[in-house]
Amino acid sequence: MAKFRTQVGIIGAGPAGLTLAHLLHLEGIESIVLERHPREYVETRVRAGVLEHGTVDLLCAAGIGERLKREGLQHDGVELRFDGEGHRIDFQALVGKSITVYAQQEVLKDLIAARLNHSAPLHFEAEAMRIENYDKRPTIHYRHNGDNHEISCDFLAGCDGFHGICRPTVPSDQLQVHEHHYPFAWLGILAHVPPASHELIYTYHERGFSLLSMRSAEVSRLYLQCASDENLENWPDERIWQELRTRMATRGGFVLKDGPILQKGITPMRSFVASPMQFGNLFLLGDAAHIVPPTGAKGLNLAVADVRVLARGLVEFYKRGDRESLRQYTTRCLRRVWRTQRFSWWMTSMLHRYPNEDSFSHHIHLAELDYVTSSHAASATLAENYVGLPFDTSGLF
Ligand code: FAD
Ligand code: PHB
Repeated sequence: MAKFRTQVGIIGAGPAGLTLAHLLHLEGIESIVLERHPREYVETRVRAGVLEHGTVDLLCAAGIGERLKREGLQHDGVELRFDGEGHRIDFQALVGKSITVYAQQEVLKDLIAARLNHSAPLHFEAEAMRIENYDKRPTIHYRHNGDNHEISCDFLAGCDGFHGICRPTVPSDQLQVHEHHYPFAWLGILAHVPPASHELIYTYHERGFSLLSMRSAEVSRLYLQCASDENLENWPDERIWQELRTRMATRGGFVLKDGPILQKGITPMRSFVASPMQFGNLFLLGDAAHIVPPTGAKGLNLAVADVRVLARGLVEFYKRGDRESLRQYTTRCLRRVWRTQRFSWWMTSMLHRYPNEDSFSHHIHLAELDYVTSSHAASATLAENYVGLPFDTSGLF
């Protein structure tokens, strides 16, 4: 068994863990990152695709935006489609900002390459099994290559996602959980076919929600609202394409071409917030602390927003011995988390069909969409939230 020591122990090499490790490295703060999956798995897992302008700015300012700038697709608006018509929300005209479509696994590839180029510690297939002294001087017990090892650290960053071990390490009487479940899920596909639109299309239809997104000029990412206990076996490729065509149809004759489906999956829909997000020297970040339904495209962006706050607190602690920012970690993060929860919940409620909805509810959905797309104030509200609410700090953090 080997014993190591570091300033910040980081469990999880997702967007939260790898971005935190990178920002700390730039500031001369040491960390060790543990990831239970192999590198290839982390670099190929298909998840989020939309980066807020603030996430892009941060990644670029941190020196890892080169490929993102080259290959990312800048979008100046999105379409909301209902009642057979499309309505564009023009982000640039409304709030002067854009979003970038760049897959989560591409962000992770860039962060992993930077970490390895700096010869900074990042261990794959290293699973944290247990945490000792989590709130004081934490020790992480982990397994790597069949052996048990230990890392003792000043601070522990729980970046281990919703199913990780950090949140469950905290006794349940110290943690409040706020949760909301939705009575539906998303069936998502990645298909080798050029996107049928150059911007994202969110569609509300009597048969349920659908979304057209993309990863490149040749690859489309599409989603369909489905039952929360849906079985993928009931969805042969032809049925998926047919259902997408029905929901996305317009009076103008929108054409959705099909192509080989490269990947299929079901994403559950949930809103979840754990509070507080800190326990002495243990901090929870990203999905370990909160989950949003994907309709607002916020999960990854919210993880990076937590990282900004914690990185600033750790820099102020190590550079000036000042703990004040660290003390405010939960308060600062939760303010953005709750505003983002509200937006994601609102987008989800507006765009999905709930089981047993009557014709009254259907008309309320349509009236809300009509209002959002025809009122300048309402469109600007959507745009402001979608591109990402501003941060109260400038610079890297
Ligand atoms: P994660 O990305 O979950 O990273 C946590 C990491 O910790 C994982 O790599 C995990 O293997 C590792 N880990 C866990 N336990 C341990 C342990 N004990 N030891 C070592 N390592 C450990 N968001 C969107 O905005 N749009 C989407 O379309 C979208 N689709 C999604 C689809 C799926 C199936 C899922 C699960 C999420 C999706 N999300 C989406 C959400 C978004 O991907 C997440 O919000 C984002 O990944 C959060 O980053 P994170 O770093 O907090 O957690
Ligand atoms: C995606 O491209 O995967 C995507 C885009 C927008 C969302 C969710 C997912 O709201």
